Amino acid sequence: MTNTRQEIEPFNYIELFKRNTALIVTMDKSGKLNMMALDWKKMEEIDDKTVIRAQVAYSRYTYTLLTEGVNEFTINIPSNNMYHAVDIAGSYSGINTDKFQKAGLETIPGQKTKVPTIKD
Ligand SMILES: Cc1cc2nc3c(=O)[nH]c(=O)nc-3n(C[C@H](O)[C@H](O)[C@H](O)COP(=O)(O)O)c2cc1C
Repeated sequence: MTNTRQEIEPFNYIELFKRNTALIVTMDKSGKLNMMALDWKKMEEIDDKTVIRAQVAYSRYTYTLLTEGVNEFTINIPSNNMYHAVDIAGSYSGINTDKFQKAGLETIPGQKTKVPTIKD
């Protein structure tokens, strides 16, 4: 597979980030992935660093993975044809559903994180 990924300046994509429901991907300690629909998010600059705040309710399995899993996550902005995946990510829980399999999504290994990003 050709690697077509490029480094981006996050603030160049802030409108896309603000406008779209994101998919936050997390991982348990065995490497199993989960994804969740995420609307409560914010991008800001603190001390010259781009910081993304993601608000995840305590009741979400994603919260458990963020606090007890590998302690990393990726934020993915889905393309327009991925509404189905966003629906699945926002209406099933990873505690009993493999949402990647259900949505038929593929991942790409993270360059800076153990957690991968979503293809597309
Ligand atoms: C469009 C949409 C946006 C959502 N945004 C958030 C959010 O920002 N934070 C949150 O805690 N839950 C949010 N939810 C709810 C979770 O995505 C939902 O409860 C999900 O099933 C939790 O999955 P999990 O148990 O695998 O973590 C959203 C749901 C939808 C449909």
